[in-house]
Amino acid sequence: MTLKDPEAIHDVEGVGIHSVHRHDVVIIGAGLAGMRAAVEASGEFDVAVISKVFPTRSHSGGAQGGIAASLANEEEDHWEWHMFDTIKGSDYLGDQDAIEILVKEAPTVVREFEHFGCPFSRTPEGRIAQRKFGGHTKDFGKGGPVLRACYAVDRTGHALLHTLYEICIRNEVRFYSEFQAMSLIVRDGVCRGVVAWDIVNGGMHVFHAKTVMFGTGGYGKVFKITSNAMANTGDGLSLVLKAGLPLEDMEFVQFHPTGLYLQGILVSEAVRGEGGYLINGKGERFMEKYAPSKMELAPRDLVSRSIQTEINEGRGINGEAYVHVDIRHLGEEKIMKQLPQIHELAWKFMHIDCIKEPIPIQPTGHYSMGGIPTNIDGEVLFDGKNTPVKGFYAAGECACVSVHGGNRLGTNSLLEASLFGRRCGKSIIRFLRENRDWPELPADSAKGALDEVEWLLNTDGTEKVGEIRDDLQVLMTNKCGIFRDRATLEELTGDLKKLEERYENIKIDDKSEKFNSDLLEASELGHMIEFCELIVAGALSREESRGAHSRTDFPKRDDEKWLKHTLAWKKGEEIRFDYKPVTITRFQPQERKY
Ligand code: FUM
Repeated sequence: MTLKDPEAIHDVEGVGIHSVHRHDVVIIGAGLAGMRAAVEASGEFDVAVISKVFPTRSHSGGAQGGIAASLANEEEDHWEWHMFDTIKGSDYLGDQDAIEILVKEAPTVVREFEHFGCPFSRTPEGRIAQRKFGGHTKDFGKGGPVLRACYAVDRTGHALLHTLYEICIRNEVRFYSEFQAMSLIVRDGVCRGVVAWDIVNGGMHVFHAKTVMFGTGGYGKVFKITSNAMANTGDGLSLVLKAGLPLEDMEFVQFHPTGLYLQGILVSEAVRGEGGYLINGKGERFMEKYAPSKMELAPRDLVSRSIQTEINEGRGINGEAYVHVDIRHLGEEKIMKQLPQIHELAWKFMHIDCIKEPIPIQPTGHYSMGGIPTNIDGEVLFDGKNTPVKGFYAAGECACVSVHGGNRLGTNSLLEASLFGRRCGKSIIRFLRENRDWPELPADSAKGALDEVEWLLNTDGTEKVGEIRDDLQVLMTNKCGIFRDRATLEELTGDLKKLEERYENIKIDDKSEKFNSDLLEASELGHMIEFCELIVAGALSREESRGAHSRTDFPKRDDEKWLKHTLAWKKGEEIRFDYKPVTITRFQPQERKY
């Protein structure tokens, strides 16, 4: 049902509320997490999905290499092996109860996709094809790489995303495409809806909901070199902070080892899974030095650090800031059959024919291990005691359950998004069966969002949004990248304060309401500066190296002090931290070697 009753809620001069909509379930984000939850809940309840982009353009579609599940279609595999690899990969920061669910339910989730009609690649016998990926091993790490990544050529995310979209359409999920979420309505520990801006037509819309789910994705756009799409500005995280809720483990940011040089575009780990080598400027397969047993198929944190070390120590190709990933030895037939998109991307973006030439690559900002704290049912948590916010759920990259801990294994992201999206859908159904009444919608629900748009359209400073964003991306890349230390993080804290001050003095040129990308980008920039402060503060306070968080001044993992999750709140200028223990069930922390 759609209510056309703007005045009933709130209005300010200039920009008012266009419409008030009501849905049992409002999901923000049309990636795998959001659409998988929508598929689940739409059988029984009225579900709306709000997305900044057209649903099938969501960034899950950019994931290439595969989705992990111990199907054992071509060789022996077990969920216990997958569990051990994920825990070790996380550098023991992952919560083992959540990881056990992830690996045990993975085969069901993948087979469900098969039954939904997902066009997976196939073995000669017709089973779902599986390939090797970094950090996925046999026999609790004692054996070599295992065939665990279920794939659809090198476009796995694309295939999964389109499959879910078709089912959502069949289930009559209501899509609000090209709507930008502006604020989350939470009062007295109860989530009551969201406020979103209609990008195409202009106008503020209030979505009154019994349940809200965030599948708002990541924030790679805070880095200069990133595999992430333009839309990945982490808006959901900022909305959560503004609603007074915490974020978890924000200091853990993943750099994928292989992005196209200077472009950042993903060159899938499948390239190495299929047998590609990493080569430095001296022609050496340098992974031998860093991970002698797993070589190119060590986990991402380790491979990215190794590449960056080669570059920093002058062993990049021609002394430049890149190395090569070489797949020429795989041959044309295998490259065109298994990695056609990689061939196309290398050609279109770099004019490199990877059948004949190696591909220039460098590490690229890829994934956020931290995010909105949730429990295993996808309920968003309020504090260190795991108190849920009533009616609010999150899954996928924006969430932190935490299955990835300090470092995510490749292919566990499509899995986590689908699996915990599905779990969110199931929890939402349970909640709605017991909670039939609408939560009260406060009269000032849209005030914050309206004030923000009003300010952005009328502020008359001298700073350009694009210039501040460029500076933010360079600073975050240079000072909070693969390697960090106290001095540069302290400097960056001051730099971010200056960017915040410059942001107060912006001016946007386009004053219209329809398809105003100036307005959208200005709002996104405000979000990015806000949560970058948390990433940097978390990185500064965590005085150890664990997973993707590598402090050159504290090079060792320190389980005594830091085997714990960070929770961080931001109120005005003040950042407050709390901590909660890591759940350890089957595997005690050990030294992490590959
Ligand atoms: O390398 C890749 O294909 C990316 C996969 C992932 O991030 O899980």
